[in-house]
Amino acid sequence: MRQIPMTRSCPFSPPDGAADEAFGKVRLDTGDEVWYATSHDLVRRLFADTRFSSEVEGGQQGVPLYEAPPPPGMFVQMDPPRHTRIRRMLTGRFTLQRMNRLRPRIEQIIADQLDHVEKQPRPVDLVEHFALPVPTLVICELLGVPYADRENFQIASVRLLDTNLDIETATAALEDFGVYLTELVAAKRARPGEGLLDDLLAGTDLTDEEVAGVAVLLLIAGHETSASVLGVGTLLLLQRPDQLALLRDEPEVAKTAADEMLRYLSVVDTLMFRRASQDLELGGVTIPEGDFLTVSLAAANRDPSLCENPDVLDLARPRTHHLAFGFGPHQCLGQNLARMELEIAFPALLRRLPGLRLAVPLEEVPKRVGMLVYGVDRLEVTW
Ligand code: HEM
Repeated sequence: MRQIPMTRSCPFSPPDGAADEAFGKVRLDTGDEVWYATSHDLVRRLFADTRFSSEVEGGQQGVPLYEAPPPPGMFVQMDPPRHTRIRRMLTGRFTLQRMNRLRPRIEQIIADQLDHVEKQPRPVDLVEHFALPVPTLVICELLGVPYADRENFQIASVRLLDTNLDIETATAALEDFGVYLTELVAAKRARPGEGLLDDLLAGTDLTDEEVAGVAVLLLIAGHETSASVLGVGTLLLLQRPDQLALLRDEPEVAKTAADEMLRYLSVVDTLMFRRASQDLELGGVTIPEGDFLTVSLAAANRDPSLCENPDVLDLARPRTHHLAFGFGPHQCLGQNLARMELEIAFPALLRRLPGLRLAVPLEEVPKRVGMLVYGVDRLEVTW
């Protein structure tokens, strides 16, 4: 049986061999066998059907990643009605309307961060000075988490997303992170501030433990993902000067570019698990109760049934039904926020630094392999 494809020999393409089969079984590093869906149609069907349960905490050895159950409030690993209860409390906070109100603040954060980049001696690591701080500042402000505490969750989140770590280290990282957030929530309970977490404490029946769990999820999901697209997306643009120029010069292209970049790069690809809660059919096969399934969003987003020339990056392409944010009840809560960050950040960066170029050869840019979110560790640039 083949190993789950994770290696991207082209830094901008899906993992090697991911699209070889629309559906079949693969082996994880742990030795466990899981079903692996890679076509657009099957991924949608899998994610739309909550009988394929997201409650995967108590699985066979090595699947899922953590032996410890997720903390209370970690609703990405819940099924309805537990999932619906918490998601409903948050949906209104992430609507397009709400995000539009945030736009001037996000523009300001990005402009300030570009001022900071310009002051650095060159070459500058764009991940450290731009791609990572921008979404981190935004999510901290939204949640009411002090930006000064970022080391606490950046280290933890890199560990949690690293599939090369053993279960003990990953579990310890989650526990440390939980301790930090439990203390933060207790402090907020005592002295309420302004932010989403404060509002959840004041205005809902969520327990402090649940609010801390929601915070774990929002902090990790809310900064690492957008940061990865900004980092590897900039690298991609530097390889495609025609697309770069379009995005820099055509305001209309900025509106479609974020989704095309998300589709094309699919930084969140695989190792999101579901488990069959009963014998279920998918792709003409009966999946026995208890079996685990995962997907390749990267392969599904290059499926020829999705759009014409799926392997071509076309930033002016009208928005497709891509799956970069998942699909169904767990579809990304933060997608409007992520789109807005990318829509503002890329053109702002390209306009501020028109001579932007790589300071090292493409091969020497360190890629993140074996991480749940694909990206680059550093991006040394000059202008
Ligand atoms: C480029 C950026 C992003 C990408 C590619 C991305 C991708 C995804 C994907 C694929 C899922 C589905 C997981 C599943 O079905 O198991 C998801 C869920 C989620 N995302 Fe994002 N995400 C991004 C940005 C964000 C941001 C900025 C936030 C901040 C609030 C966020 C918060 C969440 C949450 C809370 C969930 C769980 C939703 C649920 O279970 O109901 N994401 N994301």
